[in-house]
Amino acid sequence: MTKLVNIKEMLKNAYKNKYAIPHININNLAWTKTALLAAEEFKSPIIISASYGATKYFGGYNVVYSVVNSMVSDLNITVPVALHFDHGSYEQCVKALEAGFSSVMYDGSHELFKVNYENTKELVSLCKKYNASLEAEIGQIGGEEDGIISSGVIVSDTNEAIKMKELGVDALAVGIGNIHGQYPSTWKSLDFDTLEKIDKDCKMPLVLHGGSGIPSEQIKKAIKNGIAKVNVNTELQLVNAKAIKEFVLFGKIDQDKNFDPRKISNAGMEAVHKLLKEKFTEFGSINRIK
Ligand code: 13P
Repeated sequence: MTKLVNIKEMLKNAYKNKYAIPHININNLAWTKTALLAAEEFKSPIIISASYGATKYFGGYNVVYSVVNSMVSDLNITVPVALHFDHGSYEQCVKALEAGFSSVMYDGSHELFKVNYENTKELVSLCKKYNASLEAEIGQIGGEEDGIISSGVIVSDTNEAIKMKELGVDALAVGIGNIHGQYPSTWKSLDFDTLEKIDKDCKMPLVLHGGSGIPSEQIKKAIKNGIAKVNVNTELQLVNAKAIKEFVLFGKIDQDKNFDPRKISNAGMEAVHKLLKEKFTEFGSINRIK
């Protein structure tokens, strides 16, 4: 029996009440547990997300589904949890749905809009069959891909956003100068004019990818202007790596039985937990579940 919900209701509520649902990419089993326990502790709905790379690392779609669904059950998680497939191709989205993911993001942003639109349309009906939700993307999110760094200034076309909305997608990822990974020091700001226009024309939950390292006031302004889901990965990876580095460099690894891989991992997870609390607070998702 699945314990997972899709993202429809949680996003509607977040959009209406001007907060954002944290989308947390899971990198391993400990990460999954840390994110779920933090969501329960702070009474925040959560989107647990796996990219294709993470799914391959876990061992496959069924493994990710089983791990997340069983954890929700065994850890007695009562807040709403969605399991979302991040940046899927059409075929990957189908596989994720077949395995039991409750939500998928189809990333057709590198296709011509016509192809992106047609594939999104087919996935809307497939998601209905599975009672799953669908996130589509318009414009492009910058970042590093195959060593080529894109500045992320590619701005979405509002007409495309309206067409996607009319297809019945549940969430729309927008390219508004946001980029995956670390922002270069020359990066200035999200494109709020475009965001406001899309929000005004579409009135639906919008998604901010590349949520790591954006100044807090910009995140809050984006949430006021239609962003109802913020994706975070890199910033959590960075605090995890820093904590483990210190655990090793300060010699803690040589004390007691700290050679136990679970203890090494826990050092990172404490830092991840702390940052999750900060992110949930910034997104306004704390205590949304009574
Ligand atoms: P960051 O790794 O930049 O936080 O982006 C995460 C993301 O957008 C996943 O889809």
